[in-house]
Amino acid sequence: MKATASACLMGALLWLVSGECSAAEPRDHYMIHCMGCHGEDGAGLPGAVPDLRRDFARLVSSGVGRDYILRLPGVNQAGLDAQDTASVLNWILVNLANPVGNSSQAPFTAAEILAARRQPLLELSALRASILGEARDSADLP
Ligand code: HEC
Repeated sequence: MKATASACLMGALLWLVSGECSAAEPRDHYMIHCMGCHGEDGAGLPGAVPDLRRDFARLVSSGVGRDYILRLPGVNQAGLDAQDTASVLNWILVNLANPVGNSSQAPFTAAEILAARRQPLLELSALRASILGEARDSADLP
């Protein structure tokens, strides 16, 4: 009985020391909440899920593009809080988007995310096409 209690205590201590209870990193959030659709490298799924390497950096560069991203169902409904949402988007910008590391793209902030969450996104495909200056229908989205 005593040995079992000690083992439990050791397990709890190891769990604390190993950092299991610390907050997940942005990359972990991407792998858990986004990768299933967008792929490990952001390539997406042709014909179904857009390639994050292609237009993300351009979308982030404009106010309407940022607003579009923040109101997307996959971003808005992922269950992440505002800070973790900002962190995962900033991680994508630095690690997956092409071109990367462009200083003209300000990082997302939690306040920006909270403001965008108040407005539902309707007419998604048409809005995206108008932002990117492309005449595409929803079937060509990615
Ligand atoms: C269930 C599948 C799915 C998940 C999970 C998902 N997305 Fe998406 N994402 C999509 C689809 C599909 C689109 C195209 C727009 C739409 O239909 O919502 C998209 C669009 C996007 C875009 C716009 C890209 C462009 O070029 O227009 C971004 C940015 C994005 N998602 C980021 C994320 C992030 C960040 C996460 C995780 C927090 C995430 N997505 C989770 C399916 C998903």
